[in-house]
Parts: sequence; structure tokens; C-alpha cells
Amino acid sequence: VIKMADLDLAGKRVLIRQDLNVPLKKGVVADGTRIHASLPTIEMALKAGAKVMIMSHLGRPTEGEYEHQYSLAPVANYLSALLEQPVRLEQNWLEPEFIPVEAGEVVLCENVRFNIGEKANDDALSRRMAKLCDVFVMDAFGTAHRAQASTHGVAKYAPIACAGPLLATELEALAKALDNPARPLVAIVGGSKVSTKLTVLESLSKKVDQLIVGGGIANTFIAAEGHQVGNSLYEEDLIDTCKKLRAEAQARGGDIPVPVDVVCGKHFAENAEAEVKKVTDIVADDMIFDIGPKSAAALTEILKNAGTIVWNGPVGVFEFNQFGEGTKEVAMAIAESDAFSIAGGGDTLAAVSKYKICDDISYISTGGGAFLEFLEGKKLPAVDILEQRAAQA
Ligand code: 3PG
Repeated sequence: VIKMADLDLAGKRVLIRQDLNVPLKKGVVADGTRIHASLPTIEMALKAGAKVMIMSHLGRPTEGEYEHQYSLAPVANYLSALLEQPVRLEQNWLEPEFIPVEAGEVVLCENVRFNIGEKANDDALSRRMAKLCDVFVMDAFGTAHRAQASTHGVAKYAPIACAGPLLATELEALAKALDNPARPLVAIVGGSKVSTKLTVLESLSKKVDQLIVGGGIANTFIAAEGHQVGNSLYEEDLIDTCKKLRAEAQARGGDIPVPVDVVCGKHFAENAEAEVKKVTDIVADDMIFDIGPKSAAALTEILKNAGTIVWNGPVGVFEFNQFGEGTKEVAMAIAESDAFSIAGGGDTLAAVSKYKICDDISYISTGGGAFLEFLEGKKLPAVDILEQRAAQA
């Protein structure tokens, strides 16, 4: 793909698609991580003398309507404070066909999803967006799995379409972890359900040397070994799939290790009492909420020797401290390992932040769904179109 860093942006109208879809609380940005991650791109464009226009979505508003709670106004304020210069929020940015913007100025276009046709990747809307600029910069890795007007269509029609530095860095880090990794390559996939991560599990199990499963996902693997899982969350209809995945991994010389012990509770609550049990001792009213100390120690050993680690999903209910030890141990093992490590996904980042290992992970992705789709081995449509444009250039 063409990279923004390689273009001369002086005096150019530069339209940057970023993922500024951040959580808000009472109308104020509650976690600005994605805005911070987007900042270097904006600063680079400003320094190059560009006329900067930024697009982003926020949440999932009703198309064709202005809904106050989905306005990017809090984001404009946050960004303005970071940049130490005004950021003008442009409401009807598609109306005049030409946003007034000077070199050195930053204009934030109101939520792209207020526009009819954004999600459907409407051609006319895409063309109108493309008309606004000389250069379109796709920098929203977190939304690169969506083929929408502001991520895909606009890139078809803009005079020049390129990848921004954040998108480029994300793709490089992911390629380093998955395309040509230092071995052994270990992936940790946690979360509540096998069904929502099935494609990730299938795709990763073929690439990695060890696939570590945790959370509700591990429960189905435990059940697949013939053990009782009591009242735990698990998916009976996927037991055979789990058996198959493990057998295939073993046939390739790898494995999907199944926990030998777990931490159980009797109900899902902050004050639920935690009890460590062997997987052979689970009774009808037990609920598995974490991997046990022996299993965690085994994972630490695997992670210690890893060359590359990919982490998506906690291995237990780490929001409750008594069920957080497994996730904490995994986090610490990743932090202490010399491996190239990459983490992504909302819950994973919450764990990274809870156990304060941000600085010890080689790369933290800003993508949730996009990160998962990359792990699934899918081509991200917004990247695909940039490649097509580069091939035509
Ligand atoms: C995300 O938060 O994963 C991205 O911003 C994409 O949002 P979406 O799932 O609403 O498209």
C-alpha cells in the first residue's frame, strides 16, 4: 500500500479516517486510548503543512438522524486539548461539497454514521466524501474490517488513497506475529464462548505451536475430555469441534492444553467464594470461573519459552479478584517473557491495564473486531482496497 509518510502533503486537503470510537461517560471521554493512538498521524499531517479533515464513527447511531449521545463533540474537545489547538467540529460537512479548512487547521467531521448510506458503503456517499480531499488517509485499524463508505468506498474514489502510520504500524506488528514469527508461536484465546471465537481458534490452531484456551472456551474443552463441568458456561454442541481441534493440533505436533485444575464458585458474584479443584472433582452446582494454579504454572512455563505471543481474551472472570489469578499469571508471564508479544480486544486491554503491563507488551492493538478478524486470517476490506489502489497507481 501507499503510505502517508511517503507523500508530500504540503497545502493538500487531507481527509483522515480514524477510529475515534471511544467510550463516553456523562458526555466526557472515559478512555482516550484510541485518540492518543491517532495523535501522531494528525501531528505528522499538520507538520507536513496539510489541511486536515478527520472522519470517525462513534457508537452505532440510527442512520439519517442526529443523535446527541453519538456526537463527536467530546472527542473534538479531547483532541483539541491534546493538540493544544482548536479542533472545529463540522456538522454538515457533506453539504457545501467543500469544507473550509486552512493549512495547519484541524476539522473533525461529525459522526460518519449519521449519514444515510455509510454502513451500506453507498457509492454516491463515498464519492461525495472522496470529493472533499486530495489525499484520503485510512488510519482506522479498529474499523478496517468494515466495508463502509468512510473506510472503503471513499478509498475507491479519492484522488490518492493511502495508509496512515497507525494502520501501517498495526499491520506490521500483526504480520510480524503471524506471518513470519519467531518460534515457538503461542496464542492465548480466552473469552466466554467457543462459538464466537471458533474461526479464530480454527485459524490460529493451524499457525501456532501452542494454542492456549481460557474462560468459557476452556470449559467446553474440559467437557470434551469427558469431565463434568457442573453449572459452568459451556457449549455442548461444540464438544466434538473442540475434540477435533485438539486432535488436529496434536497431529501437527502442537497442542491445545486443557486445564488440569480450575477455580470454581457457586454463583456469579463479586463476593462468591472461590475454591480450587481438580478438573476431575467438579460437581453439579460448581461454576468454573478461572484456571487453577497448576494450570497457570504450566502456561507460564509455555509462555517463558515462547518466541512470539498473541493474546486475545482473559482466561477467567478477572473482574472479580478471587477469579483473576489465572489471567494475572498469564499477564505477568507475557510481561516477563522476551517474546515479541501482541495483545488486542476490549477485555484483554482491560486486563493489561488492571495488571499494569502496558509497557511490557511489545504491541497493543487498537482493534477489537478488526484484531479478531485479522487473527481469523480474513482480509480486512479497508486494507484490501488500499492494496488495489496501490496496484493501479
Ligand atoms: C470497534 O470499536 O470495534 C470499532 O470502532 C468498530 O465499531 P463497530 O463494531 O460499531 O463497527
